Amino acid sequence: MEGEYYPVADVISQRRSVRRFGPEPVARGLVRELVALACRAPAPHKSRPWRFAYVATDGAKGRLAEAMSGAWLADLEAVETPVRDVQRLISRSKEQISAAPALLVACLDYSDAKEQEDERRRSAERDMFVQSLGAALQNMLLAAVERGLAGYLKGAPLFCAPAVREALELPDGWDPAFLVLLGHPEEGFEPAPRADVEVVDVMVER
Ligand SMILES: Cc1cc2nc3c(=O)[nH]c(=O)nc-3n(C[C@H](O)[C@H](O)[C@H](O)COP(=O)(O)O)c2cc1C
Repeated sequence: MEGEYYPVADVISQRRSVRRFGPEPVARGLVRELVALACRAPAPHKSRPWRFAYVATDGAKGRLAEAMSGAWLADLEAVETPVRDVQRLISRSKEQISAAPALLVACLDYSDAKEQEDERRRSAERDMFVQSLGAALQNMLLAAVERGLAGYLKGAPLFCAPAVREALELPDGWDPAFLVLLGHPEEGFEPAPRADVEVVDVMVER
């Protein structure tokens, strides 16, 4: 295979977290297509554990932003964060949620997880499901790039799952994990510099 190039490698290399979007909307059909492609990911025990809430209206975005901010505020105040920082962080988070042309909450459903005997194995079982959500989200981000979109993930729902569940009235058994924010990249957007990963630093041969 040496010397051959596959488009998927180009897409992988092009993908960067894009946090600034242009005004063009993202068609609902495209969102559905990206969800379908996310669900081609590998998952444990042949399960299909991914669930997606498409936050389609301004009202739902507003409820979500309020609920998440409330939960975050409590966490920030618990560690005595300076008021100015609290205000900056909360207003930026609300703005990010409301400005996303397409917003999804990626959730996990653990109902196909196997019962395990002890905490060590229960934790490993749970980790397997979490890993599979990472695979599904990477599929989604790559497919988005291939279609001229871009976006980023926010792990905040992991920190305030009950607030997210309640704000969106999610079905029982859906555990909110990530926000996926997608849109057309803002013209002239330059991603933040990022350190390269050298294979020699991350791989050993035995
Ligand atoms: C598990 C996970 C959680 C993340 N959470 C956030 C987040 O809360 N806010 C954010 O702006 N970016 C978040 N990101 C995006 C990372 O900041 C980004 O992937 C990283 O800086 C590398 O940049 P790149 O995606 O352009 O390669 C998250 C990424 C992952 C994989």
